[in-house]
Parts: sequence; structure tokens; C-alpha cells
Amino acid sequence: MCGIVGLVGHKDAVNKIIDGLKKLEYRGYDSAGMALVEQNSGELCVIKTAGKIANLEHEAHSKYKGAAEAGIGHTRWATHGKPTKENAHPHATELVALVHNGIIENYADLRKSLLAQGISLNSNTDTEVVMQMISLLLSKGVAPLEAVQRTVSSIRGTYAFGIVFKQHPEMIIGARKGSPLAIGVNADGKLSLGSDAVALSGFANQVAYLEDGDIAQLYTNGSLNILDKDGNKAARPWQPISKDQSIPDKKGYEHFMLKEIFEQPSTIADTLIHYIGRPSNKTVNIHPSGISWDQTNHITIIACGTSYYAGLVAKYWFEKYARIPVEVDVASEYRYRTPPVHEKSVGIFISQSGETADTLAALRYIRNLGHTCVTIVNIPTSTLAREANVVLPTFAGLEISVASTKAFTAQMAVLAYMLIEALKMRNDADLSFELAKEFLTVDALILNALDTMQGLTQLAKKLSETKDVLYLGRGVLYPIAMEGALKMKELSYIHAEGYAAGEMKHGPIALIDKGMSVIALCPYDKEGLFHKIVSNICEAKARGAQISILTCKKGRLLLEEAELKCPIYLYPDATQLTAPLIYSIPMQFLAYLTALNRGVDIDQPRNLAKSVTVE
Ligand code: F6R
Repeated sequence: MCGIVGLVGHKDAVNKIIDGLKKLEYRGYDSAGMALVEQNSGELCVIKTAGKIANLEHEAHSKYKGAAEAGIGHTRWATHGKPTKENAHPHATELVALVHNGIIENYADLRKSLLAQGISLNSNTDTEVVMQMISLLLSKGVAPLEAVQRTVSSIRGTYAFGIVFKQHPEMIIGARKGSPLAIGVNADGKLSLGSDAVALSGFANQVAYLEDGDIAQLYTNGSLNILDKDGNKAARPWQPISKDQSIPDKKGYEHFMLKEIFEQPSTIADTLIHYIGRPSNKTVNIHPSGISWDQTNHITIIACGTSYYAGLVAKYWFEKYARIPVEVDVASEYRYRTPPVHEKSVGIFISQSGETADTLAALRYIRNLGHTCVTIVNIPTSTLAREANVVLPTFAGLEISVASTKAFTAQMAVLAYMLIEALKMRNDADLSFELAKEFLTVDALILNALDTMQGLTQLAKKLSETKDVLYLGRGVLYPIAMEGALKMKELSYIHAEGYAAGEMKHGPIALIDKGMSVIALCPYDKEGLFHKIVSNICEAKARGAQISILTCKKGRLLLEEAELKCPIYLYPDATQLTAPLIYSIPMQFLAYLTALNRGVDIDQPRNLAKSVTVE
């Protein structure tokens, strides 16, 4: 989502801000801009362009003539107002320029009040309203810090601001509430401001995260003044920026997504090594999570999008093996329905970015009721990680492609570890041992599944010409069917739905004709779901659907015996625990290859953001 970079005291600020913005491209954006106070003219110079950073870079090089030591840059993901140059950030008057991540909820009232005071507005954004309020105070002689303090006290909503002032070229101000904002410092003591550590990784080696309500003044001479929400001086702890927080290269792959798909055997192995020891003598050593499983009789799992599907898989696992009831909900619904939370419930919050606004709000709700909050998160320095009682990192490494792949399978690996730990602590050591042994083979099975990419190219070619795709699954593969459909929608822009196969005849079957492509996730299983889904496939086939079946060797044999003449794609033998990870691979490949055929922007699909920091 929107990204912020701010610099003070660095030489060559223009190029450095552009470098910082390029690092933020992976978050998803639709326009970009920057503002600097030029040293020669003393003017506040603002440049903004719709579309890619390359447009901004081109214009910046032709427009900025003088050097500047303080500046801010922004990538915008439109919320209020279209993704145009006018609506891009920074918003500025001749006194001040401001960039913003977040949403100002009372902007309509504030706008009315400004219009009544004779201030005209040039954009449709909530952000311009805030900038105009600060500018009005500055024009009345109010000092920058006080102007920012007075303005933020009258706004409702979420924000991370970066602000430069014409009359104070030696300083930028950052302020945050709800949206993350960090300060960086390099070895020479030069300061920077960024929406995450990735933005700062090129010009800082340490980072400090601002807290809600903080306002920070960053000076070119390296001094830093942070005031907390009550206006008291505050210090925020510095921590080193790790190598994992800098943008990796594509290592020869055409897209980050493909690289990240192929990284999964090693990312899963890294996750497993951290959490589960090699089982021997009927025991398995497990990393202690700190969760009191013996005191737990209910689990609440909250997440969004792909992370939510990882949570749904865990519901099947925990209920079947540990007999613990699990409630799973999307964070945007959960946070507003003020649900009662079971007395001995543990809250699990799953997120790749750790910054998803709705998931964070749900965590705060459950934490305030006094429950243990666990987060499964890929960015251990994120806001969710800082606010949870227990942090279980996924060790997937920075995920750059907007569509989540390796973080998703790593989330499921952490959930499987939690199940194994829960069983051990709840006196079911034998089952815990058996499941650990079984799950520790999953990285090798994923490696085999990765060999199937070539075999899916023809199917993807057909899918790229279709209008609708229906993914069918049962049991633990029902969430994977939904994940397959989500991947297909977001990457190829083709309409796709994931359905519980048994539910198909309660409605969606009406859509089926020869134009409908159906992908059935259909491994042979001991639980008997294979035979059930085969019946559902027959129902779809009888109505003319174009069926493709993903199964294992035994499944293929049975399908051939039943003379069900559909294309079959073979995957390694799977169990309830390994199947969701194995069958995620063809879901990722099909979406990737279909999008490739359609020539769309695979790593940054339209309208999407990597880090969804607004609700
Ligand atoms: C889909 C995808 C999204 C995210 C969702 C939650 O490929 O990436 O659906 O899963 O926006 O994001 P996180 O996991 O960062 O909370």
C-alpha cells in the first residue's frame, strides 16, 4: 500500500528518495511524488506523476536543479480520489508539503470547515485537507511542531505523515497513529523516515519504530526530537536493520513470484528446522512457543485473504487431531461484530506483512479482553509482532511479489508445528510424534510438486481464454480451492471461485455449462472424501464443464477404472497434514502461468497492495 520515504542531511536527496521509492514499489501503488526544499532558490519544489516511479524519476531529473538536504517521497495507492497526478502525494501549498498513509475519517467535516474559511482545495483527497489545515496555521505564524500537534488533535482516522516546510529546510516532521512509521539512522548519524524498514534499508543501518500518537522532528544535523501522544519527550529503541529487510534480486527468474514459488522447499525447511527437531525414540523436540495448550479449550484465528485460508486449514487440523474447537474469521468482519471470546481461547493472528489494519484491530480487541494473542508473521519487526504476546515468525524471507506464495505455505508449516506442540502438551505424545514424522517430509514433497510446472502449461493456456474457473475441494483442500481461486483472480483478472465440492449443487451448479472450467483437487485419502468429490466431478461433467483433476497415483488409478475421461495431473501422495501445502503449488503455478499468457503485471497486479494498512 502507500509508502513513505523522508531524508534529512543526506547528500543527493533526489536520487536517494527515488531509490527509496523504488524499494517500496513491491507494496503496490498507482502514482508517486516527492517534495524538497531547494537550497539555491529556497523554494518548495513538488513533483508528482501518475503510474510508475520511472515517470517520476524522469521528471525529477529534469526539474530539480539545486541540491536539497531535506525531502519526502511517496507511493500512493488510491483510497479517496482516482489515481491521478492531482491526487498523488505530496499535497502542498507554498509553505508546506505533506505525504500520508492511512485514511482521515472525518475529512468531509474538516473539508467543509476549510471551505468556510475561504481555503480552496485542489484534489479529492483526505490528505490535502490535513495539509491545508497545517498550512493555514503556518500562515498565521504558528510554528511547525505546534501546527502539526494542533492539526492531528482534530483528525479522526489513521495516519503516518511525512512533512517538509519551506521555512525550515533543515527539518522534516513525521507523525503516526494507526499506520506504521519508522526512523532510520546511518553510521554518520544522518536521519531518515520510512513507512517500513525496507524503505530505509538503503540509507540507514538502524531503525526505531514510532508509537501511536508520536510526532518526531528530524534535523539535518542528526538531532531527533520525539514527543509522545501526551506531548512528553520520548525515546524509541534503535534496532539494527537486518539483511532480510533489503530487497533481494530475482536470481535469474522472470518474476519475483516464480522465484518465491521455487524457494518453498527451502523456506519450509527453514521454518521446520526452527520449530521441530528430528524425531527419535518415539519423541520429538519442539521449540516452546510459550502457549499454555493444556489450559486452552478454544482457538480464535483471525486473518485476511490468503492468510485467512491458512487459518481455515488449521481449523481442520486442530479440530480433527487435538479436538480443540476453532473459530476462524476474516478480520474486517470479526473486528466489528463484538463477538464473545471463549474463556480459555487463544487468539492466533496470521499475517505476512504484520501490518494489515483489520488484523491488527482484531488483535487489539482480543488482547484487551485479556487473552493470549499469538501472531504468525513474516516480518518480525512489524506492528502485529510488536503488539502480540507470542510471536511465531514464518522464516519465509522477504516476499516481494504482491501475491503471497511462500509466506502462505510457511504459515501452514507454523500452524502444523503448533498442532504438534499442542498434542504433546495435551498428553497425546504418540500422535504428536507421528504427525511430526509425517510433516517433516513436506519440504521434499513440495520439491517433487515443483516438477509439475511444465505439465500445467497447456491447461493454463486454456484457462487464459476462459471467463470463469471453479475450483472444487473438500476437507483440508477446500481452503486451498479458495486460495487457488483467489490467486487466479488477482493475477490473471479472470473470474474464479473456490467451492466446497459438496456445496456445488446448492447453487453454483446452475452456472455450469461447456464454458466453465473446473479444477478439482482430488487426492486419494483414507477419510473417504476422494469418492465424494469424484461424484461431484461427475455432476459437473454431466453438465458439460471442462474438468481438470489434480490427484495422486492411487487417485489416478481409481479414476481410470471409473473411466472418468478428464485430464489428470499427478501430485505426490499426501495426508491431511501435507496435502494443503502440496496442492498449493499447482494453485500458484496455474495462476502464474495463466497470468503470463495474458501478459499482465505479475508481481504487481492492478489495484492490489502488498501491505494493506488501511481498513
Ligand atoms: C493474496 C494476498 C492477500 C493477503 C492479504 C493479507 O495473494 O497476498 O490476500 O494475504 O492482504 O495480508 P497479510 O498476510 O500481510 O496480513
